[in-house]
Amino acid sequence: MDPQNLAYALIQLVHNFGAVAVVGGAVAARWLARDAPATQRRLAWLVLAGWLAQAASGAGFGAVSFLFYGRFPDIHAIARVALLLKMACAASGILLAAGYLKRAADWLPARRDTVWTLLLVIAVTALASAAFLRWFA
Ligand code: HEM
Repeated sequence: MDPQNLAYALIQLVHNFGAVAVVGGAVAARWLARDAPATQRRLAWLVLAGWLAQAASGAGFGAVSFLFYGRFPDIHAIARVALLLKMACAASGILLAAGYLKRAADWLPARRDTVWTLLLVIAVTALASAAFLRWFA
């Protein structure tokens, strides 16, 4: 078995489930658990874990490439923009989800709605960027 393929596959495994967590968690919190702050809080932990997993596994892809080739892949400008967008989404997702866990207990429902909408928008943006990163890399 090729160790490089195995490393990529294991990282992709984490990355795929992280993507489900950030998108699905935000959808559930925004609509299904809208009137249940305690459930929303549990979902915020899931979403935070998802964003951390995305950042770590995303860095893992780069680390494996570096380990096997001694440099990062030379990717097309469109793929580079997509990658930067994903990194910006991950940074804001981590900050927003952590901020939610710290402060949301004092927030009115409208404010919680706004933050979940934002978390959903950045998750969808990152997922859409993944398609461009994949095919323009
Ligand atoms: C710091 C943040 C991130 C980095 C550095 C990163 C990096 C990467 C890399 C290098 C790949 C492999 C690209 C290829 O196959 O050529 C990838 C694939 C992928 N990423 Fe990310 N990613 C990040 C965040 C995210 C987020 C937040 C999502 C979803 C919400 C996401 C969803 C995906 C998906 C679905 C794939 C598989 C694409 C495919 O093969 O069709 N990524 N990512």
